[in-house]
Amino acid sequence: MKLFNTKILGTGSYLPEKIVTNHDLAKRIDTNDEWIVERTGIKARRIADISKDEVPSGMAKEATLRALEAANLTPNDIDCILFSSTLADQAMPNAASVLQFKLGITNNCPALDVNAACSGWIYLIPMANALIQTGVYKHILVVGSEMLSSFNNWDDRNTCILFGDACGVAILGRASENEDARIYSTVLSSDSSKKDHLTLWAGGSAKKITHEVLENNEQWMTMNGQEIFKAAVKTMAAHAEKVVKESGLTMNDVDWFIPHQANLRIIEAVGTRFNFPPEKVIINVEKYANTSSATVPVAFDEAVRDGRIKRGDNVLFAAFGAGLTAGAIFFKY
Ligand code: UT7
Repeated sequence: MKLFNTKILGTGSYLPEKIVTNHDLAKRIDTNDEWIVERTGIKARRIADISKDEVPSGMAKEATLRALEAANLTPNDIDCILFSSTLADQAMPNAASVLQFKLGITNNCPALDVNAACSGWIYLIPMANALIQTGVYKHILVVGSEMLSSFNNWDDRNTCILFGDACGVAILGRASENEDARIYSTVLSSDSSKKDHLTLWAGGSAKKITHEVLENNEQWMTMNGQEIFKAAVKTMAAHAEKVVKESGLTMNDVDWFIPHQANLRIIEAVGTRFNFPPEKVIINVEKYANTSSATVPVAFDEAVRDGRIKRGDNVLFAAFGAGLTAGAIFFKY
């Protein structure tokens, strides 16, 4: 069987217009800009406005139109939609189908939602890669679109300072015979022994939103920050090391490292473990905070568009999230 190599044909991103700074948050809760910057590197975050359709599917529509333009494709060229969101527009219909509608796609392509929290977009890349390599689909739209502001408790200073809303997408397709773009290696995992460290218990089938749930504040995300911090550094570093080793290359061959943007200290801890010079590591957490599965595709899109990442560069992605899910991808762009 002939296997195709996978190429990222185009990328796009969308950031909500509304900017909320640390100073804005300090007016509402007992925090301050110095503490947030020192502990997380975050200075601001974007917050979605539902009246502007800045919901997961709506942000994904805008990001996809940019990616289609970059890839020189039209909406009906997409033959599969994979959509990562921690909490999509609604339970039914799924966000991927809503996105298909919003893009005016009429080819009835399959449209699938996946939730692997912050690792969701990374989780979808090996799946898209397998479908491209085996010739099942030609142009797969991989979306990471997140509206964390909808389940972020704005009165809890332990969590609310960390998160923002955004969408990043990539269109994956076949590399032609004379191109060297390819995905070298991927790894995914989930360590469920840590499942209770980052949670949103209410709002699903097991616990509906009731008056009692609202009184107990169970409709919001909860987090054991220090446990997540330790697991994040350990898992992202191990996974990054694994994919580079499996590719037969070394950390010196990595041109760009794009880790999940959760906390600058986590990023620096992983980066220094591999002696990556700071200019090799793509960071935007200061502007957008943690936008869950959107962080890596947004940072990737920004670095492609501003000319830092060029065709032929070796790029390393790593992410972790609730579950505790994690993954890494090493590829030639
Ligand atoms: O995608 C995965 C998402 N989650 C993460 O990546 C989270 C990973 N963890 C972290 O980023 C860090 O653990 C945090 C940023 C959440 C917290 O940083 P920390 O250095 O672990 O601080 P801490 O929780 O140990 O808190 C230190 C102090 C505490 O006060 P006391 O007990 O020492 O008096 C907190 O009450 O800082 C206090 N504190 C704050 N102070 C001002 C906690 N949050 C704030 C705040 N502003 N927003």
